[in-house]
Amino acid sequence: MNTPVDPTTTEAWADLQTLKDALVPDLRGWFEADPHRAEELTFDLADLRVDLSKNLINEDVVAALLRLADQVGLPGRREAMFSGERINTTENRAVLHTALRLPSDAELVVDGQDVVADVHAVQDKMFAFAEKVRSGERKGVTGKPISTVVNIGIGGSDLGPVMVYEALLPYKQDGLTCRFVSNIDPSDVAEKVADLDPTTTLFIVASKTFTTLETLTNARIARDWLLNALVEAGAIEDTDEARKAAIAKHFVAVSTALDKVADFGIDPDNAFGFWDWVGGRYSVASAVGLPVVIAIGPDGFRDFLSGFHAVDEHFRTVAPEGNVPLLMGMLNIWYVNFWNAHSHAVLPYAQYLHRFPAYLQQLTMESNGKSVRWDGSKVTTDTGEIYWGEPGTNGQHAFYQLIHQGTRLIPADFIGVVNPAHPIKDGDTDVHGLFMANFFAQTAALAFGKTADEVRAEGTDEAIVPARVFAGNKPTTSILAPVLSPSVVGQLIALYEHITFVEGIVWGLDSFDQWGVELGKKLALEIAPAVFGDAEALAKQDPSTQSLVSWYLEKRD
Ligand code: F6P
Repeated sequence: MNTPVDPTTTEAWADLQTLKDALVPDLRGWFEADPHRAEELTFDLADLRVDLSKNLINEDVVAALLRLADQVGLPGRREAMFSGERINTTENRAVLHTALRLPSDAELVVDGQDVVADVHAVQDKMFAFAEKVRSGERKGVTGKPISTVVNIGIGGSDLGPVMVYEALLPYKQDGLTCRFVSNIDPSDVAEKVADLDPTTTLFIVASKTFTTLETLTNARIARDWLLNALVEAGAIEDTDEARKAAIAKHFVAVSTALDKVADFGIDPDNAFGFWDWVGGRYSVASAVGLPVVIAIGPDGFRDFLSGFHAVDEHFRTVAPEGNVPLLMGMLNIWYVNFWNAHSHAVLPYAQYLHRFPAYLQQLTMESNGKSVRWDGSKVTTDTGEIYWGEPGTNGQHAFYQLIHQGTRLIPADFIGVVNPAHPIKDGDTDVHGLFMANFFAQTAALAFGKTADEVRAEGTDEAIVPARVFAGNKPTTSILAPVLSPSVVGQLIALYEHITFVEGIVWGLDSFDQWGVELGKKLALEIAPAVFGDAEALAKQDPSTQSLVSWYLEKRD
């Protein structure tokens, strides 16, 4: 196993520190001094236009960041990922989500296995299945076509499909709806199935491992709900055989563990596989995207995959100076390690992207929330960013105050779309134009602020001038897309995947494991008997936990 380069020992790191110490942020002055700043720091990435010019950078900083990427060996690690080396060291796995997006004529053989052929075989199976659901050929047990698909999964087996489904609602086939059950809070599944007709409902149980407590519990609840409802309605007989036939018609699975799928009672013919080299949070382009395929159809999904692939190619081949994921990843290093930024806002000015920040939370934080490096040694600098956000303009009326006038530096990515799905007018006013005017206004306000003199010039009472000053120099990146197409959604996901990769390499992390979720899972199972009333199990808990569980038991009806 090769040892990660300690970034703090590189020449570039020292250069960046010197540059940071000397840099007085002045976006107003920088734009005035260089009329080409916007142009020079704006890039095209597939269909996306990405403007980095409102960041706290200059030519020297960008050059030093790119030197740092080089000095930590990023090009070699990137190639290792794309070619299927086992860079997920703690799980001894290749990291090949990019292979999910390769066209069928591409070549990639890993450990003697033709990965591209495997990927396309599953895709063909998914596409054929989705076509049957969409056309009504695939029927429920009573012969009715499917009208609702319920995906049961959590983490990567939920966040990707739900985010993409919501983002691409305008592309969804009429008459077909997807719902997503993830939480083990029984309210989730109860609410999601409450008004459903079991005869027209298809459940997809999505779990990479097929061992996840939440998903298997919800899947069993859903199975019971379906069978009981069918029996009660007289739709099927109350026999094991009839139940088995109903499960075959109403349950399919997505997993890497097809043996466990069979144990659950789902026919392997109704299962869609993927591979251990696809991380859960990187899996929406695999069979985990089945609800999306059903909703938008195989052609839409192919377009989605082509968007990912365009960005993969860009990241792999474009020179560092114009390589957008590389530049954006290194910018994040700049803010985290040299400006002490702790969090990163993602602000989609596209209501359909309302789940994108939540999706990015798993992608970025499960990947880079680590304090040891890929060889087990301690990290040498801060790692990870807290990703958060809400769609604009809602966020403007909630938390932007802190970004504008708080004491913390919060780099923010604004994501906007040029052509809306609904070009609605309010009288003569184009509402989307008004919406986007807010996007542009916010990034300008954050960058350029408002001086005390400007506030005074508006006739403001001197006593409240300080409260109305905007310091400016709040960094933002603007990302615009012509339209929120399936391809663009794929491009956005791939962009952030590669940004996450770049940061992970600089910090020396294995961005593809997630051991940090294990302890809580194990303890929950140990504490469960106490919650169910086992006094001995309760006595083994710490005093705080004992007191909490006791109060819970006392109040529980
Ligand atoms: O939370 C840990 C995790 O393993 C995630 O990485 C994963 O996306 C999620 O659980 C769900 O796992 P699975 O798809 O195996 O059910």
